[in-house]
Parts: sequence; structure tokens; C-alpha cells
Amino acid sequence: MTDPDGIPARGLPLSARAPGKCILFGEHAVVHGCPELVLAIDLSTQVFVRSGARSSLNSDPDAPRSNPYFQAALDLSWKGGPAVDVRSVTRIPRAAGLGSSGAFVAALGAALAAGTGGIDRAGLARRAFEIERAAQGVGSPGDTAASVAGGYIALNGGPGDPLWSVSAGERRWEVRRVEDPRWVWVVAYSGVPRSTATAVRAVGERLAQPDGPSLLEEFAEVATAGIASVGRGDRRETGELLRRNQELLRRVGVSHPRLEELITAAAPAAEAAKVTGAGAGGSIVALPIAGQEGELVRRLARAGALPFAVRAEPKGAGLIEAAAPG
Ligand code: PMV
Repeated sequence: MTDPDGIPARGLPLSARAPGKCILFGEHAVVHGCPELVLAIDLSTQVFVRSGARSSLNSDPDAPRSNPYFQAALDLSWKGGPAVDVRSVTRIPRAAGLGSSGAFVAALGAALAAGTGGIDRAGLARRAFEIERAAQGVGSPGDTAASVAGGYIALNGGPGDPLWSVSAGERRWEVRRVEDPRWVWVVAYSGVPRSTATAVRAVGERLAQPDGPSLLEEFAEVATAGIASVGRGDRRETGELLRRNQELLRRVGVSHPRLEELITAAAPAAEAAKVTGAGAGGSIVALPIAGQEGELVRRLARAGALPFAVRAEPKGAGLIEAAAPG
């Protein structure tokens, strides 16, 4: 393994961490090959891996069979390895569209790869996507790419050389880094849980209708412009494009009355707000009017959501030195 940014070989016990994510432009359309802009956020998942009498996750010995993400990680990254006792802690709310599963598989993938000889960053990104896809059955590599790379990440868009590419079937996504405008964003969890796989399948059916190709073209146009406007730090234009993206998400049926209420509550303190992730529940992301971050958080909390002010987490998945949890 010669990648200086890769995951080095290490023996157990091991600890690794990976950030969650928030999708700014292009969710759903990215599954069909269109561009997407994803931000790795400063809420993360940490895993601690040590040898154990039998494999378990957070003391649950059934997890290798009952938790599809854990099962896929062991199958794809630890085949034939000794039993491992894995602890996972996270600050990312689950089933909220903030990348808890992508962060879990990126962190666990990094730890297990270190324990089996190390891996370069592109290899870890492909492995994490493979694990997530095996567990989820559908989807794009956007979440896992952001968790592995950190920072602002464009799929199938943006200037410059790709960091790496990831394929599934005949689909291929190129992953590029986008300049960090150093903005604070506010994400707010509605408390309405949802399933990514169910929403992705429903949108797939919607896009199979006759106007599907033109909807996808619009998604691609908005995401391409969004990647450019974020990269040059243009708040106003980014706000305008976020609104257009939200309109497209409404048209493919993944907004939700609760999310619309939150978007309305955010409006006086935000350039714009939209669904983030699979939608049909989950979270919104809002770009605050400069200096109004606190007011935006208060407004969303008063509207009954769980808001977080987030920034880009520049560091992607990696090993950390950590004491063993008790
Ligand atoms: O994991 P979520 O809920 O943030 O959804 C991911 C975004 C989708 O585009 C809907 C699916 C995907 O895998 O890209």
C-alpha cells in the first residue's frame, strides 16, 4: 500500500472514525448517474475493534446475522478473520438522511482494512460502497465517498482530476474534491424516520414515467450549477439553486408535510432550505443568511426539529488512537 493518504496495516485492537454527510445538490438523480454535491459534516461515528470470543456489535452476538451493514462488512472485509468485538458510537441521528450508515461502514471498513494489511483511499471508498450496497441493495456511492474523502465532494461533476471512480453494473461515478467555501450550514432532523431504499425505489418508478428523462436533465443542470456556485462561494446563487433543487424533489415526491413546515420555519433566517438525502421524512438542510446561524437554529428548534449547525469535516475516514471503551 503506497498511498500516503491510505489506511496503513495495523494489528488489533483498532479504532477508526468517519464523518456523516449532508447532500446539498442532486440526491436521487445521482443514483441514475447525474451529478451530486455532498458535504462531509462534523458529526461522526467511531468504531473500536478488538478480538473477542465471538463476533458482536455493541455486545449483540446476533448482529453478524441481524445487522445487514455489519454482516456485509464482515463478509467483504474480514472473511475468515478471527471473531471481533466491535463497539460503535455516533453523534449522527439514525435514519435521518445524515449518513449514519455510510459513516459506520467507512469507519468499520477502515478498521477492518487496517487489520488485513491496509488499503489505499480509493480502495476504501470502493469497499465502503460495496458494503453499503450489499446491505441496502440500491443507491449511489455519494454517502460513502464523502465519509471516506471528507470535505466537499462532487460526483460526476466539478472541474479537475477525479480522486477516484466507483462503478456498479453499467453505472460509473467519478469523485472530485470541491473547494470549501467555509460556510456553516444548518441541518435539522424532522423526527420522521424513513427508509432510503424505499424512497430510492419510489423515485425510480417516478423517473420511469415519460417526463423522467427531462426531470433528470433538470436535476443535472441544477447540481452542476450548484457545484460551481458553492466552489466559488456565491451564497446568493447557491440559495437560488437550492430552491430549484427542492422544487424538483417535490416533483419526484420525496418532500413531506413536516419537511415543508421546517422549510417555511427556516425561511426568514435562510438563503434557502431543502430536503437532504432520501427525503419522505428525515432532514432538511438550510444555508443561513450570513450571521443568522443562531437564529436559524432557534427557529428550527421552535418548529420542533432537532437542528445542528455543521461545517465541513475536512478529514475523511481514518484510524485514531483511542482508549478501549469499557
Ligand atoms: O442515505 P440518505 O437517506 O441520505 O439518501 C442518500 C441519497 C440518495 O440519493 C437518495 C440515495 C443514494 O444512495 O445516493
